[in-house]
Amino acid sequence: MPTYRIAPSILSADFARLGEEVRNVIAAGADIIHFDVMDNHYVPNLTIGPLVCQAIRPHVEVPIDVHLMIKPVDRIVPDFAKAGANIITFHPEASEHIDRTLQLIRDHGCKAGLVFNPGTPLHHLDHVMDKIDIILIMSVNPGFGGQSFIPGALKKIAEVRQRIDAYLAQNPEREILLEVDGGIKIDNIAAAAKAGADTFVAGSAIFGQPDYKTVIDAMRSELETA
Ligand code: DX5
Ligand code: ZN
Repeated sequence: MPTYRIAPSILSADFARLGEEVRNVIAAGADIIHFDVMDNHYVPNLTIGPLVCQAIRPHVEVPIDVHLMIKPVDRIVPDFAKAGANIITFHPEASEHIDRTLQLIRDHGCKAGLVFNPGTPLHHLDHVMDKIDIILIMSVNPGFGGQSFIPGALKKIAEVRQRIDAYLAQNPEREILLEVDGGIKIDNIAAAAKAGADTFVAGSAIFGQPDYKTVIDAMRSELETA
């Protein structure tokens, strides 16, 4: 069985109690904290920035996975690295120079990755695999929590899984995570794993429930069947 990671998205947490929320969800078994950054420009919503990342950092002993839904990207990368981000991903449409942005993220000591919207082609991966630590497939259009999983994402995940496996066969020392984000619930997480995902973002499915551990445990049991 691959190593599966569950990454609760704090977009659906209670922002008035964010420190407590992240502590609780980590105690409930979260492997990664997913941190959604929106700018009301690249996506039609506005969320949180480096100050909030820095504020939760002392409460979070697992990696912080910063998902940038912002354009432009580069100016803010050093700020997030300084604020304690471990992983930084961005959308290829939002950067004029994808290779440069990936290198910038890595130069700041973070893992780097590209995010693919449902309508974004995978060819952006063609020449940059050496600089990629994580590939994020969106199973909703970005901008909001609580949307429904778009089933076409499964085929795309499977295509990316093939690309990653072919690359790793040639580069066995490398590690590349395959993350899925949007509409992940207890009843579809196994399908995403079967398609090839190993890292699962879930916002409303976890923070929308009173007992985070019950949901995360149920997700893990589903993953065991994948
Ligand atoms: C959407 C965000 C997601 C979102 C997931 O733009 O990138 O991370 O918070 O939320 P759910 O799990 O509710 O779809
Ligand atoms: Zn996200």
